Amino acid sequence: MTFLRLEEDLLRARRNAKWKLTDHQAYPAWIAETDYGAPPAVQAAIERLVREMDYGYPVRGAGSMSAHVADRFSWRMAKRFGWKADPATVEVVTSLDQAIAACLLAFTRPGEGVAVHTPCYPPFRWLIEETSRRLHPLPLVETRDGFAPDGDVSLPADVRMLILCNPHNPTGRVLTREELDAVKTLAARHDLVVISDEIHADLTLDGAHIPLASLGGELDERVVTLTSASKAFNIPGLRCGVMHFSSPGLQNRFLQTIARSLLGQPNVFGVDATEAAWEQGDDWLAEKQMLLRRNRDRVAEAVSLIPGARMIPGEATYMAWIDLARCSKNRIPYDVLDEAGVRTMAGAMFDPAADGYVRFNFATSEAILDRMLDRMVSAFRR
Ligand SMILES: Cc1ncc(COP(=O)(O)O)c(C=O)c1O
Repeated sequence: MTFLRLEEDLLRARRNAKWKLTDHQAYPAWIAETDYGAPPAVQAAIERLVREMDYGYPVRGAGSMSAHVADRFSWRMAKRFGWKADPATVEVVTSLDQAIAACLLAFTRPGEGVAVHTPCYPPFRWLIEETSRRLHPLPLVETRDGFAPDGDVSLPADVRMLILCNPHNPTGRVLTREELDAVKTLAARHDLVVISDEIHADLTLDGAHIPLASLGGELDERVVTLTSASKAFNIPGLRCGVMHFSSPGLQNRFLQTIARSLLGQPNVFGVDATEAAWEQGDDWLAEKQMLLRRNRDRVAEAVSLIPGARMIPGEATYMAWIDLARCSKNRIPYDVLDEAGVRTMAGAMFDPAADGYVRFNFATSEAILDRMLDRMVSAFRR
């Protein structure tokens, strides 16, 4: 489909981090960006802005840009997940990392604990450190279904917040209703605010995503859901994201510390692209999901050719969490792959105890993926 598969010379010419910061001889499988284009409707929305040089203070829908994004978000959640998210309790941000930092400042105090399932998306750790809070790790456990939260943990009294990532980066796990129920019980038992980062919700490959806040009940006063169109529709550079508070009380608590003006305002490119993606991008997305499913299976097949390597295929995202600990004597697998010309992300970035793992981004063309996998298999079979 148009805009979906880009050739290598075009990709190398792009000025995005994934390709620009990767050595010319190497292939990038590191940062969470895809090698695809964007849905035709997104491209048309951007082209319209450019054609009309429409760069003034914007008006969209019946009110402000933010109210418009909130309205479109609420519509999208109902359509995609059957979740009725009140647009009145939405704040629009430019980045989810920004939203997480703001929540840490608003809902916790310096020195307090923040529970995070590990391995975790590295900025969770960085943001907790940057705001002088303390990360309390909750190691995921390997079950028959993949990596899962331990349903039976108890937390120290100073832990005031849980940052949940579902679908999970880096393991690709999608939590079941029972597992989300256990999160709900934990949050209620310890009176936690839960930041539910659901940025990968549209990228399920098997199974269905359930928004945590849709469980309701004891979660009604304590969940901040974060999402954006950036991962699914490949527009992270356009900077537009959403925070949804599960009650007006929680939103007011947040706004008492973080003045709304500090959140900034999204730009017209981000807003128009997000709206176009959510409203008209689903055929493109379905094709992308099919391609990702095939790529994930190709990665799993290649991993099975490496003696001692292990991978539990993820149910979502375009990242594979690969255990190569037994495959390279005295060397970190990231270094072996780097030398072989495949740039991944070292497991230790996600969990200091996981330096035998790498996170491998497989969102590229079949041709490039095959070249990376050939390099990977030969590097570890030498
Ligand atoms: C789980 C998760 N949250 C947040 C982000 C970043 O979002 P943003 O670019 O809006 O800060 C990413 C990007 O990879 C991610 O994987």
